[in-house]
Amino acid sequence: MQITQLNLPDRMIDLGVGQPAISLLPLEAMKTAAEHRLSQRDPSPLQYGTEQGNGYFRQALAQFLSQGFYTSVDPDELFITAGATYGLDLICTYFAQPGDTIFVEEPTYFLALHIFADRRLNIVSLPVDQNGLIIEALEEKLAEHRPAFVYTVPTFHNPSSVTLSAPRRERLAGLSEEHKFLIVADEVYHLLAYTVTPPPPLKTYDRGETVLSLGSFSKILAPGLRLGWIHAARPLLKRLTRSGLLLSSGGLNPFTSSLVLSTLELGLQDDHLRFLKNTYRHRSAVLSDALQEFLPPATTFSEPQGGFFIWLSLPAGMDTGKLRQVARPKNVNFQPGVNFSSRQGLQNCMRLCFVYYGSEDLREGVRRLAGVLP
Ligand SMILES: Cc1ncc(COP(=O)(O)O)c(C=O)c1O
Repeated sequence: MQITQLNLPDRMIDLGVGQPAISLLPLEAMKTAAEHRLSQRDPSPLQYGTEQGNGYFRQALAQFLSQGFYTSVDPDELFITAGATYGLDLICTYFAQPGDTIFVEEPTYFLALHIFADRRLNIVSLPVDQNGLIIEALEEKLAEHRPAFVYTVPTFHNPSSVTLSAPRRERLAGLSEEHKFLIVADEVYHLLAYTVTPPPPLKTYDRGETVLSLGSFSKILAPGLRLGWIHAARPLLKRLTRSGLLLSSGGLNPFTSSLVLSTLELGLQDDHLRFLKNTYRHRSAVLSDALQEFLPPATTFSEPQGGFFIWLSLPAGMDTGKLRQVARPKNVNFQPGVNFSSRQGLQNCMRLCFVYYGSEDLREGVRRLAGVLP
């Protein structure tokens, strides 16, 4: 039996889907990893795990990240999660109270908005430009609010694909130290760099033990593993490892961690990441070229340098939510910009994803999209 999560009509090209194609998932690598792990006849991964995550796994992960981040990562500053989403929810639970204010970017990762709503957090939004979060806007809002944290996707942003510049990272970290708010940096796309090397992750800029950086195997190996990490100073991680949740359940996903440890030890993760980067680099160029070729000049976007997405801006006054109702019967779909707004804005924008479809479908999808644009 094959279980697929998406139930798309046959001819639909849904450029709104933000996940890898099933055909890109590393079945063979996971088979090899499972054989490697299980042949060691060590039942301990089936036991409750240590709260912070298995020490051998954290060590191997730290080594892998140190290479990918071009900066040293300490295994004791890693906490293993069941994915970035789970990490974000834990942070909302243990580092904020219902009713607290938090700052998010406009646009922001839309599903994070649902987590913040679940946790009854008040949202104040901050604008971004080509260099990421605008720090002057943050300074202005700090005069009015005391946020529990700033939630940012600093590298290859979802949905806008922009990257926070190094000077802005410095200033953001400095402000968090000065004004005593946390930075929750959702850095799940950091390792998916195609044409540039981004500045180091925000944890590198942490001077006051105020940065919690989220990472995930969802984007570099497989979402179904439900495995990720939080990279933060030890005192911050202690608040998680001493939580009732962790004390009762033990560390998160110890068995899956042991399989992923094998992918790290055997070089399978490195191979898969290389494969994904080559595939996605190509697909991102195909989608960019098709947009240049088929869409009207008034529709603007920046070529992505990494990540999963292209953010299109249509002329002001256009409503991509309404446009979608015209697009769907023509078998093309996308994510309307309003989904990424915490204040019903961004109506003239849309997010397209280039990792789910191959070249032919990407080009055909853009052709169909061009056909429904006025
Ligand atoms: C910015 C961002 N954070 C988190 C996630 C979800 O990550 P995970 O599967 O590790 O929960 C996504 C997936 O789309 C994402 O784009």
